[in-house]
Amino acid sequence: MPKIRISPGEKSAYVPKGENLFSVLREEGVTFPCGGKGICGKCKIRFVKNPPEPSSVELKVLTPEEISSGIRLACCCRIEEDAEVALMVPQIVPSQLKLPEVEVEIEEPLCSGTFAAADIGTSTVYVAIHDAKEEKIFAFWNPQRAWGDDVISRLQEALQKDKKESMRKVLIERIKDVISKPGKPCDLVSIAGNPAMTAILADEDIENLARYPFSLGSKGFRRIEELLFLPEIGGFLGSDALSLLTVSKLLKANTPYIAMDIGTNTEMFLVSEYAILGTSLPAGPAFEGFGISQGMAATDGAIYEVEEDLTFKTIGPFAERGICGSGLVSAIYALKKRGFITEDGKLLAGKLFRFGKTFITQKDVRSFQTAKAAVHAGIKLLLKKANLVPSNLRTVLVAGSFGGYLKEEWLKGLNILPEGTEAPVTYIGNVALWGAKWSVLSVKVRKLMESLKNEVEVIQLAEEEGFQEAYLEGMRL
Ligand code: FES
Repeated sequence: MPKIRISPGEKSAYVPKGENLFSVLREEGVTFPCGGKGICGKCKIRFVKNPPEPSSVELKVLTPEEISSGIRLACCCRIEEDAEVALMVPQIVPSQLKLPEVEVEIEEPLCSGTFAAADIGTSTVYVAIHDAKEEKIFAFWNPQRAWGDDVISRLQEALQKDKKESMRKVLIERIKDVISKPGKPCDLVSIAGNPAMTAILADEDIENLARYPFSLGSKGFRRIEELLFLPEIGGFLGSDALSLLTVSKLLKANTPYIAMDIGTNTEMFLVSEYAILGTSLPAGPAFEGFGISQGMAATDGAIYEVEEDLTFKTIGPFAERGICGSGLVSAIYALKKRGFITEDGKLLAGKLFRFGKTFITQKDVRSFQTAKAAVHAGIKLLLKKANLVPSNLRTVLVAGSFGGYLKEEWLKGLNILPEGTEAPVTYIGNVALWGAKWSVLSVKVRKLMESLKNEVEVIQLAEEEGFQEAYLEGMRL
């Protein structure tokens, strides 16, 4: 059987002669949106050694340049001999992974040796390994993507016990694989993430999250063998959201403020002198580059920023392969500035607009509008609940990996932040990773999390009066 080496990493697998890489790479988090039918072209991988002869499907779907550079479709290639493939892995952009600079002392740590902090995202997992001397951060695709790209489809799959167990195992194995790399065993892995991801990993009941009332309720710290799970607020506000709130409190941001982590699922808090309102809203996958004609994750070759003169930047020293979430936001901002798109989102230049070989379509603009309308409506309604208006805000804190790419002028100029928001936007880094780390190191942080989780009034936006109006208003560019 031919042996396939998978880089980055040390992994190898054997594949029956003549087979494709579908089952081997599913475990590595490579997704197969068309189920391996060779239609979508989204399961591209690059062979760095011994690329197989392209199949007839690959000759149709891939460009001659891609074929000559070793790119193949994982679902269509036929493995005949030993080879090596390089996976497109999530990029660790320093600004994305910057941990918040909050002054906290190490006090009553739960672990005196090497430990790991993990941020379990729906798409990407970040693991930071800490020892007395240094901190090393690794990123990889969440291998549970094989059971669906978004939280809801994954939860539906996880309702079947055997699938839930497979999802749990595959992620634990992957984390173990990463933490065994530095050679020093980790005594503890502290975990933050959204409630669905952590419930699956902790093997907790998920029925109430997958169906009405869509909440597992508030939870405290839980320790399961070497895994430490952080507290959760309730609703879809999990330990990643609680970490965001905790950081915002420790930063002593001027109130009233909005703290949010924008993504496929956006978590948001409005903190005023009198109350903390929290909500979670499904914004759709456009912010992460999914569901867009030529969309892709923020990896090698993705257009991540379009300038106002319509020139663009790609990740790494690669020609454009597609466009990621921040590329889409900046492209629409630039098109609006140049008068190529109307306020209601109509592309004036025709059915599509090209950036090099990559293009965005009218449908892509609509996907962006629906994603950002949800964020806009969330802010508007939280403010309304607190009897405030956008001009009352003193600060806007933005966290998370997608947030790390966003610019203040895009957020304000595209009506993502409601009109009248004058407060400065501050990027605060990967708060989930911060929460997982400092829960281990500081008793003060542990106590603050335990108390904050009970102070949040969770708002179900869709049930709020005025949601439709705020959402429609948010569609405007
Ligand atoms: S999964 Fe669609 S082309 Fe491979």
